[in-house]
Amino acid sequence: MCDLGHAHSRDHAYGFLVDTPEIRALIEETQRLRTTIADDASRVEALRPAFATLLAADGWLPDSCARPDDSSKMGSGIGQYALYRAEDGSLCLFSLVVPVGASTPVHDHLAWGLVGIYRGRQDETVYQRLDDGSDPAHARLEVAKRQQLGRGEFYPLLPPADDIHYVSTISDTASVSIHLLANDTACVWRHRFEPATGAVTPFRSGYANAPCPPERDSVGARG
Ligand SMILES: [Fe+2]
Repeated sequence: MCDLGHAHSRDHAYGFLVDTPEIRALIEETQRLRTTIADDASRVEALRPAFATLLAADGWLPDSCARPDDSSKMGSGIGQYALYRAEDGSLCLFSLVVPVGASTPVHDHLAWGLVGIYRGRQDETVYQRLDDGSDPAHARLEVAKRQQLGRGEFYPLLPPADDIHYVSTISDTASVSIHLLANDTACVWRHRFEPATGAVTPFRSGYANAPCPPERDSVGARG
């Protein structure tokens, strides 16, 4: 499951790392809608009921996937735990644990999907990119919106719109958000941003409980 070191063989790094009926129902519905709806925005919209059902259900997320990770590559004890990974890199479900008072780096995701709150409360700041993206090391960002989210609330990701953000935990317990995204998010090379300086840095966050493949991904790879 989500204990460090338990899934570090390839046999246990893909598929249902946490195998519960609730997770299977969401993944199966996602795969079904992939074959029936070609448009990403329409597919994400159609996924809302299944995603809401998972967020509303209790008992399916092991405690080991809901705790901070002191060895986090994202820093601040932020834990990222794979729950499901398609072996071809086309889909993943993971939990993200942000300790009390901590914030993620400003980052992107590079895939469509849904993100929602399972425990605690988060403040999300979304950035809009003002430059044309032609300089891989620099981005001009401005804050586009801020929102606060609690249990059961979720939002779609449809890059490039609203794909750059950071979240902070504002509850007095760690927040746990659930991410369903159409890549192998923690293993693709994506980006972290410093809005004050404009610096853009390649970034691969990694899962706490599963290895990334050898460097088959290149910077900027899409999932
Ligand atoms: Fe994010």
